Amino acid sequence: MFTSLPGFREFYPAERALQNHIFDLWRRTARRFGFQEWDAPVLEPLELFTEKSGEEIVRQLFNFEDKGGRKVTLRPEMTPSLARLVAARAGSLRRPIKWFAIGENFRYEKQQKGRLRSFYQFNADILGEAGPAADAEIIALCIESLRAFGFDVEDFRVRLSDRTLWFLFLESLGIPESAAVPVLAVVDKLERTSSAELEEMMADALVGTNCVAIEILPKVKNFVELNSLPALEQFFSGEDTKILARLGEWKTLLDLLKAMNLESFISIDLTIVRGLAYYTGFVFEAFERTGDGRALAGGGRYDALVKKLGGSDMPATGFGMGDVTLKNLLEDKSLLPVYSDAPDFYAIVLDPACRTVALTDVSLLRRAGIRTEYSFKDGKFGKLIQAAEQAGARYVLVYGPDEVANGVVKIRDTQERREITIPSRELVARLQAVLEGGLAAAES
Ligand code: HAM
Repeated sequence: MFTSLPGFREFYPAERALQNHIFDLWRRTARRFGFQEWDAPVLEPLELFTEKSGEEIVRQLFNFEDKGGRKVTLRPEMTPSLARLVAARAGSLRRPIKWFAIGENFRYEKQQKGRLRSFYQFNADILGEAGPAADAEIIALCIESLRAFGFDVEDFRVRLSDRTLWFLFLESLGIPESAAVPVLAVVDKLERTSSAELEEMMADALVGTNCVAIEILPKVKNFVELNSLPALEQFFSGEDTKILARLGEWKTLLDLLKAMNLESFISIDLTIVRGLAYYTGFVFEAFERTGDGRALAGGGRYDALVKKLGGSDMPATGFGMGDVTLKNLLEDKSLLPVYSDAPDFYAIVLDPACRTVALTDVSLLRRAGIRTEYSFKDGKFGKLIQAAEQAGARYVLVYGPDEVANGVVKIRDTQERREITIPSRELVARLQAVLEGGLAAAES
């Protein structure tokens, strides 16, 4: 037996229906916010990611050399492709650019709960707007996308942090710019690493600076305890103007979210620094309320990426939301939708001589947009009714010699076990009436 590769999923119809439901809600929510859909190739030049995404993702690339000797990779994320698309037409695109995409991404990760090697991601990004208004809009869309599935404030939280504030804080500790990103990589591991290991990692990050790990670590740990704007304001009171100005932007962002009635979804959490290298400002991740499990979504501001890809200065912010953790949470919270792929009508043919008339009617119904199936085999009434019930159809259309000879069709309601007969020439209108009001509505 062949099996699929580890970390890759197969979608049987019920799973695919769930997938479609997820895509549909993502799409509808993004459109409600006025976002337009885009897409890009799943196979991209390797360089697009080795240069832009950061070490962790590069280790996880599904890369190879194609037959033309090009170094290529399956995309691990969509943001560098988006930046390239925007960079190429930056001059002609109406700003702010509000775009979303739904696409398959690939990361060679260790397969575990919430993490696969192939997953789908909903991306939403705003480009061309530098102020907190765009951050607020992106965070609001992230929250509303989760609410569209029925999750609410008791189910999830958006943990909000800020790489700008982090850089300013590290600068205030005397940590040079060159060491700031390595230090943030240590912060990223703060929650999951022992003190001894942290010290070692911090010492590595601070190599070549005048700073000492055992002095910096406690300060960093103090800093990440701050979980409200007043606490941040107190911590930095009277400090340099850059930090105060930044706290002003925090206030604007939080006020905007409050105006949208979303403040209860937000918790300030400075341990969030994001693994990807390109983030520059406000960053956030959405988690299940208890904080257990993997992130549902993650994003933030990346103001330098478009320029790095050859474009002009183009501030940007956005997020990605995966389908794997989302589906796990839908299951945990019993919010999986109930759906049916059943046909509305199922035609059964009792005699080979009736098949032509039956198929003509079936085609007519399908063209009218009515979901109709039919039995491929002729046969006995009881067996065919069983087949119709197995297909999930409530109404059966019976084509036997008597019906065909009289130019009528018999409709059987398998739930109420009742039948009516209608003239063939009125088939479409009568069946539409059945769908709206049951057999009674189609009786003349
Ligand atoms: P990311 O945090 O790497 O960000 O991924 C965002 C979300 O994608 C995660 O929170 C998770 O739900 C899902 N995800 C990531 N890796 C996996 C995996 N191996 N298996 C299942 N789900 C996964 C980004 O990708 C950024 N490009 C998002 C972004 C868009 N930032 C700005 N715009």
